Order: sequence, then structure tokens, then C-alpha cells
Amino acid sequence: MGCSISFKFLNDLKITDKVTIIKDNKVTYINQYKILGLLGVGTTSKVKLCKVNDKFYAIKMIKRFKKITIYSPNYNLDMKVYNFINHKNIIKMHEIINDPTHNKIYVIMEYINSKTILKIDKHGFVIKSFLKDKFKYFKGLIEAVEYLHNNDIVHRDIKPDNILIDGDNIKLIDFGDSKLIPDGILKDTKGTPAFYPPEYCTKNKFLGKPIDMWCCGVVLYIIIFSRLPFIISGGSIMSFYNKIKNCKVHIPQNTDKDLKSLLKGLLQKDPNKRLNVSQVKNHSWFKMHS
Ligand SMILES: Nc1ncnc2c1ncn2[C@@H]1O[C@H](COP(=O)(O)OP(=O)(O)OP(=O)(O)O)[C@@H](O)[C@H]1O
Ligand SMILES: [Mg+2]
Repeated sequence: MGCSISFKFLNDLKITDKVTIIKDNKVTYINQYKILGLLGVGTTSKVKLCKVNDKFYAIKMIKRFKKITIYSPNYNLDMKVYNFINHKNIIKMHEIINDPTHNKIYVIMEYINSKTILKIDKHGFVIKSFLKDKFKYFKGLIEAVEYLHNNDIVHRDIKPDNILIDGDNIKLIDFGDSKLIPDGILKDTKGTPAFYPPEYCTKNKFLGKPIDMWCCGVVLYIIIFSRLPFIISGGSIMSFYNKIKNCKVHIPQNTDKDLKSLLKGLLQKDPNKRLNVSQVKNHSWFKMHS
């Protein structure tokens, strides 16, 4: 289906520049992919299950140009770099269908038959948790971020919604906000407010990697305390940003002292002093659980 021109890159990622959509008796095919159920809906995209030759994939359907993503045709360099990403804790891409005459870009990736690590309600509290081994999931996240940072890529939207459980481990997904940052400096605010680092509230230029480290701190806080560290609920949006800006985070007194020190090191106001990946890996709490 669909006579497409494909280029093969390293990592087996195919870039296809022609899309053919066929609707056959209520079944939709996007090129060779038979579209099945819905997996998730986001602000600019839908993710569906699809199948080809008895193999399942997840297909992310991104509305073109509403958001410039790593997959955007203007970001060929990033796309090439993405093609080198090959890590056990990061979702593997299979094909990108990017037809300039079509209003959507399709990203076909490996399908993970499971859930995100946990669900948070609109008040900022965990309502469902699928965590089995809290440390192992956090370790998987740190390993994924280490790999990205070593390749000068920042994810910029690390949060439980973008972390899927994969057996005993995790897979980081959703590279819609990610960026290649050879010089380390970013000028645009991306991600989700509850996960914004303090510098987003005070500055207009940011170091890339510490943004991800802050988000890892927020994820660790949620995993441990089953709630967001900063909650909008009740107060105004300004008072919410002020809490983040002043780094006013409550850590219960009976918290293990090593864990407290790790949380404080990640949820550190000054991005230059915030722990980086190797400091996390060498932290006593991390080592104690490894
Ligand atoms: N590879 C996958 N396998 C299984 N489920 C997936 C996969 N990718 C995404 N999903 C499901 O779809 C949801 C949305 O995916 P994703 O986070 O990539 O899109 P999004 O949040 O809509 O992105 P954006 O913010 O860029 O619009 C995920 O939370 C997850 O439940
Ligand atoms: Mg997402």
C-alpha cells in the first residue's frame, strides 16, 4: 500500500516522504499500517496501536507545524541524531512518514503493551500507581537521561505521563519537545508547568541539561511521596510560580537523610549547582539501592 520512497538510516529508522491513506470497510490503513485502537491523546497528537505483518507498533499522529518537533522536516539534523538513539530505556523509532503535502506527520515506534508508571489527578496527587520497584524505575530514568545528555540531547518533558512501564524497567517516550543542544543554552520554555524548573520563572535563557535533572527530581518526589512537589490547586498561578521560583518544597521530616539530600540536590534552585547525571549516580542514596 502506498508507493513510498524510503531512505534507510543507521538504526534502521526509515524516513518515508509519501503517505497513502486507505479506508476499507471501516478499517484505515496509513501506508502499510493497519490502524487499531487508541493508546493516548495529547495536545498536538494522537497515538494509536497499529499492525503490519502480525507485528504491533504505536503510531503517533502529529498535526503539522502546530509544534516544531524533533521530527519536523526543518530539523533534519536533530532527526539524524535521533536516529542514533539506541538505549534500553528509550522508545525505539521504526519509521517516520513525513509527506510535505499531508497535514500530519506519522511517527511509528515500538509498541509497549503497558501503562505509564502512574497517574496523577488534577489536584496533583497520585491516583493510580503501577510502580513495582520504585528505585529500579528511577534508575532506568536516570540511565535514559544519561544517554541523552551524553549525546547532547535534552528531553525537556520528563514526567510520569512520558514514562512507560516495560516489565521491570521503564521506557522514556515523547520526544516532541526534545532538542539537540551542542552549546547547552536554550531560549524557549517547553514542557509542563508542574515540572517547570525555577529558572523558567526568572530567566529567558536556560542551560538545557539541568532542566531535565529538575524534572527527574520532580519524578523522584512523586514516586516517593505520591504527590507533586508544587501544586496549583486553590492558589493563583502566580503563587504557584512563586513557590517554584523560591524552591519551596516540603520534604517530610522522617525522610531518610540520603534521600532528602538527593531530592534537595535535584530540586536545587540554581541550575549550576543542581546535580547532574553522574553526581546522581554517585550519590549515596543511589549507590545504596544499586
Ligand atoms: N510506544 C508506545 N507504546 C504504547 N503506548 C504509547 C506509546 N507511545 C505513546 N503511548 C501512549 O500515548 C500517550 C501519549 O503519547 P505521547 O506522550 O508520545 O504524546 P503526547 O503527550 O500527546 O505528545 P505531545 O505532548 O507531543 O502532543 C502516552 O502517555 C502513552 O499512554
Ligand atoms: Mg506525552
